[in-house]
Amino acid sequence: MQQQATKLAILISGHGSNMASLAAACRDEHWPAQVAVVIASRPDAPGIARAHELGLPVETLASAAFASREAFDAVLIERLDALEVDLVVLAGFMRILTDRFVRHFAGRLVNIHPSLLPAFTGLDTHARALAAGVRLHGATVHLVTPELDVGPIIAQAVVPVLDGDDAATLAARVLRLEHILLPRAVRWMVEGRVQAHSGRVVVEGIDEAQRLIFDSALPADFGQRAGGSVAGTFAGQARP
Ligand code: GRF
Repeated sequence: MQQQATKLAILISGHGSNMASLAAACRDEHWPAQVAVVIASRPDAPGIARAHELGLPVETLASAAFASREAFDAVLIERLDALEVDLVVLAGFMRILTDRFVRHFAGRLVNIHPSLLPAFTGLDTHARALAAGVRLHGATVHLVTPELDVGPIIAQAVVPVLDGDDAATLAARVLRLEHILLPRAVRWMVEGRVQAHSGRVVVEGIDEAQRLIFDSALPADFGQRAGGSVAGTFAGQARP
């Protein structure tokens, strides 16, 4: 008997470029999954039109219309349960979720955050990375736990911070890698490969190099220069 497709919900608040890259990978790579719904927390989110263009079922749940976080999350849970969603992906979803929501979807709730966690949780990560003077920055896909932007890390993408960068150029460099990182990690979730033990993730059957993506602006011999001990893949190139 054929395995039932995993039902994905993708939650967005803004442009939805991560939602689009995820939905495209699911379709083009023929995952055993389907996007059951895209839910936008803002009626003016440009991602809504993008989801329509991709032929995805899209709904708006305007958070501003709710008196409390609890009330919003209760309706969200109800809707996702009614659709029998298996896996919830936060793809640029600019809301803090209640403990109740996180517990309800424990182990099947994934977030992408634009920093190398645990550095720079919260907002304005690119400007804060620049202000801190870090030389490396990036993005993280992690399982969601009640504490904001903390939770077992599935995969990370690393970019250099260049001298001429401002928050916009740095954000664009990170976002390009987010579009590779998120589909990769969600696919492992769909395939049932992701296990968390004591806060650390193991991805069964996957070379650990796949869990770290380097921007091509980093020197091609980055891994060797670091003593050959950095296992990662370069964006746009397969690199064992
Ligand atoms: C991404 O950088 C995401 O990590 C962050 O907000 C941005 C959303 O971009 N939380 P998009 O809506 O996916 O285009």
